[in-house]
Amino acid sequence: MWEPLPLCLLSSLLATGSALLCEVCESKEESCFCPLQLFAPLEGTCLIGVAGFSVGANSFSYMAKSCLAPKSCEPSPFTVTYQHNITVRVNITCCDTDGCNAGVIPVPAVSLVPSG
Ligand SMILES: *[C@@H]1O[C@H](CO)[C@@H](O)[C@H](O)[C@H]1NC(C)=O
Ligand SMILES: *[C@@H]1O[C@H](CO)[C@@H](O)[C@H](O)[C@H]1NC(C)=O
Repeated sequence: MWEPLPLCLLSSLLATGSALLCEVCESKEESCFCPLQLFAPLEGTCLIGVAGFSVGANSFSYMAKSCLAPKSCEPSPFTVTYQHNITVRVNITCCDTDGCNAGVIPVPAVSLVPSG
């Protein structure tokens, strides 16, 4: 069985000169099987974002990789809690070298300590 991991290594070795290569995909799993797409150099910066949703006792995650205008990139992990039981944890990282958004970044850990 082939593992997708070598693709991650491969993509970070790719180098093209002028334009920027970013991985583009979205997934409900932390997979790195994303095609590379070419962006104009001034168009943006590579982005990788992960989100972990917790709704009551259920949780699921979402990952997106794309290219974003540098101005709209505000990297930083943050956590938002809606009402009592709904928590969204987000971690966003931007970078501007070819294939630099390969791989995965960690979803921020739940900071709430169960009281019990
Ligand atoms: C939060 O969870 C508790 C117990 O699971 C449930 O009774 C309550 O209705 C939930 N509240 C919201 C806002 O979902
Ligand atoms: C967010 O992702 C970065 C990698 O880009 C990682 O170093 C950092 O620990 C992550 N932050 C949290 C809170 O998990």
